[in-house]
Amino acid sequence: MFLIEHWFVSLPHAKVMIEPWRRAVNPRLEMEQYLMSTQALINTANALVADDKGLLAMDESNPTCNKRFAQLGIPQTADARRAYRELIITTPGLGACISGAILYDETIRQATREEIPFVQAVIDAGIIPGVKVDAGAKELAGHPGEKVTEGLDGLRGRLKEYAQMGLRFAKWRAVIVIGDGLPSRACIEANAHALARYAALCQEVGLVPIVEPEVLMDGEHTLARCFAVTEQVLHTVFDQINTQGVILEGMLLKPNMVLPGLSCSQQETVEAVADATVRCFLRAVPAAVPGVVFLSGGQSAELASARLSAMNAGFKSHGPWALSFSYGRALQQPAMDIWSGQAANVKAAQQALLHRAQCNRAARRGEYSATMEVKD
Ligand code: 13P
Repeated sequence: MFLIEHWFVSLPHAKVMIEPWRRAVNPRLEMEQYLMSTQALINTANALVADDKGLLAMDESNPTCNKRFAQLGIPQTADARRAYRELIITTPGLGACISGAILYDETIRQATREEIPFVQAVIDAGIIPGVKVDAGAKELAGHPGEKVTEGLDGLRGRLKEYAQMGLRFAKWRAVIVIGDGLPSRACIEANAHALARYAALCQEVGLVPIVEPEVLMDGEHTLARCFAVTEQVLHTVFDQINTQGVILEGMLLKPNMVLPGLSCSQQETVEAVADATVRCFLRAVPAAVPGVVFLSGGQSAELASARLSAMNAGFKSHGPWALSFSYGRALQQPAMDIWSGQAANVKAAQQALLHRAQCNRAARRGEYSATMEVKD
């Protein structure tokens, strides 16, 4: 009886049994310790989607961050990146809308001007710290135009260090291109396999995996094609997730929305995008996953808010998972544009960031409207 009691972990509204075979996934852990760490994973995953808050992706690699800085004439130095990340993290009131921040390896080893390590500064802001752990998307051998994300080698050791540094979740991004004859099965399966192995390694050390299979917006494809590809990718990812024994209740999915390609002649209404996205996910995302946290992928900040809001307005009451955000550009870009590397602009940039965070919190309630964008 005593033992049977310990086979259960708590979800926000129910208890759920963890099947004994999952224990075999990690035989080095004693059962009691295993159940405690499973419960902690589930608690973190749920905390990341609680209270209508969402995630802030600020984990641009140095080359990506430098590219965005270069467009604005900002010096591409470690200290400029540090100053920018300090601007974000010290934005007053950010923790009221943002549950978790995804940091980059360089950032977690940096500190504010007052010498508070960034991981601590994030925690002080009432935000859960996480980190990007993949090593980037590299050319997939034998498949021109397609990529596979690398970074599994040595990952167990890196994750252990991240957990010791106080990070509570991790992110891995896979990239899928739609094109003539693309994506290939090889690309989808290689990326899905890597995502699942990364997720299992994360859960082993108590980090919640954010599983990000991004079907890119670039191209002329229609909404229907994006739907079909996204559905196929998600089926493959969850097949691998199950094969690797990943605990669904202790992970989050970070997908693209179902959208027509940027160059498609038929663009769609906000409602059509919301409808297609949720219908696709109802087919392919298990109900046990606590949250779907969208990437913005190059949408404008306003459209990313409007589409998320339409999903929540239409489907929040009957979807099994939270529909939330984990935006990078759609949260940060207006702030970065205003800042442009000038100390005098920090306050105005922080206001712009907070505004986007507030818009997206409203979107989680299905209450965002274009009137929120009116400047006084
Ligand atoms: P965007 O919202 O700018 O697409 O970034 C999200 C992200 O984390 C990409 O990995």
